[in-house]
Amino acid sequence: MSSFRTMEWTNGNLHLLDQTKLPCIEEIVICKTMDDVCESIKKMVVRGAPAIGCAAAFGYVLGVRSLVENFNFENMSPDSCSSLVSKGREKIYQSLLKTRPTAVNLEWALKQMQRLDYKEHESMGSYVNAIESKAIYLLQEDINTNLKIGEIGADLLGQCRSVLTHCNAGGLATGGYGTALGVIRSIKSRFGDISVFATETRPLLQGARLTAWELTKDDIQVTLITDSMCGALMQTREIDAVIVGADRITANGDVINKIGTYTVSVLAKENSIPFYVAAPWSTVDLGTHSGGDVEIEQRNVNEVRGFGDSVWVQENLSIFNPAFDVTPVEYVSAIITERGVIRGSVDLQEKGLDYEF
Ligand code: MRU
Repeated sequence: MSSFRTMEWTNGNLHLLDQTKLPCIEEIVICKTMDDVCESIKKMVVRGAPAIGCAAAFGYVLGVRSLVENFNFENMSPDSCSSLVSKGREKIYQSLLKTRPTAVNLEWALKQMQRLDYKEHESMGSYVNAIESKAIYLLQEDINTNLKIGEIGADLLGQCRSVLTHCNAGGLATGGYGTALGVIRSIKSRFGDISVFATETRPLLQGARLTAWELTKDDIQVTLITDSMCGALMQTREIDAVIVGADRITANGDVINKIGTYTVSVLAKENSIPFYVAAPWSTVDLGTHSGGDVEIEQRNVNEVRGFGDSVWVQENLSIFNPAFDVTPVEYVSAIITERGVIRGSVDLQEKGLDYEF
C-alpha cells in the first residue's frame, strides 16, 4: 500500500488529503455535505480519475443523507415519497456528474450508486446504510483493483529499470496504491530498485508536486524533468518504458489522459520506447467510439498565466488550456488492466463483453 491515505470515510464525513497544497502542506479537508465534495472535485483537492469516482460515491451518500434528514418520509404516502426520492437522487447524481467532464470513472461510480434501489429497503435509514456500505466497498475495490493491475504490470514490465511517467497516476489519483505508479510500486517490491523520471506536468504540476512527493515518500528513486525535456531524455538516457494512467479509454482503444500525454507517446514511438497505459476497467468506455467523441475539460486560463499568486504573462493574452488530450490507439503498446493486458481495440471489446458499465 502507499504510505498515505488519499481519502477516508470517518464518522460519516469524507476526509480528503488536500492535493492543492502538496507537497508543502499536508492538510485534510473534511467534506460534510455533497456540496463540499463537489467543490473539492472542482478545485482538485481530490483529482485523478479513480479518486474522483470514489469521492463522488461518498458525495452521493452525503447528498442522500441530507435529503432523508430534511423530509419526514414516515408521514408521506408511498407515491409522494417515491417521487421526492427519485427527483432528489437525480439532482444529486447530476450535481456530482458535472463537477468534471472527462474522466469516465466519475459517471461509472455514480451509476453504481444509482443502481441501489431505495424501494428494496424497508426504511430510508436502511437505504442510507446500504449506499454508505456501497461507497466504502467501491473505495476498497479500487485499491484491490490497483493491486491487481500492479501485479499484472510487474509481470509484463518486471525487467524495466528506468521508466518515464507523466502527471500523477498514483495513490493520490486513486483509492490508494495507484495505476501507473502502482505498477512501479509492484516492480520495486518484486524485482528491486527502479528509477522513475517524472514530468513536471504543466500547468498544475501534478508530476512535480504529487508524483515526486509520493514516490519519495515510498522510497522510490525519482528524477524530475520539465515537460519539454522528454525528447532529450529519450535520446540521451536509457528509458525502458513510458507508463501513464488514463481518464477514459474509448472503444477503439484511444486513451484520454492528462494534457501532454499525446506528445510523450509520439516521442516514445519515434525513439522505439514502449508506451503503456495502466487503468482499471472503470476507465474503459465502450459506449464511446473514439477519443474525438470525448468532452475535453477546458480549465481556467489563470492556471497557465502563472501559479498560485505569481503571474508571469501580460494581461489579456489569449490562452488555450485543455486539461486532457487524446493518444491515438496506434501509439499505445498495451493497456494494463485488472482483466489482463490489452493490445488493440478487438482485445478491448472481447475483455469487456460481460462488463456492466
Ligand atoms: O486533472 P487531473 O489531475 O485529475 O488528471 C489526472 C490524470 O490525467 C491521471 O493521469 C488520470 O486520471 C489517471 S489517474 C490513475
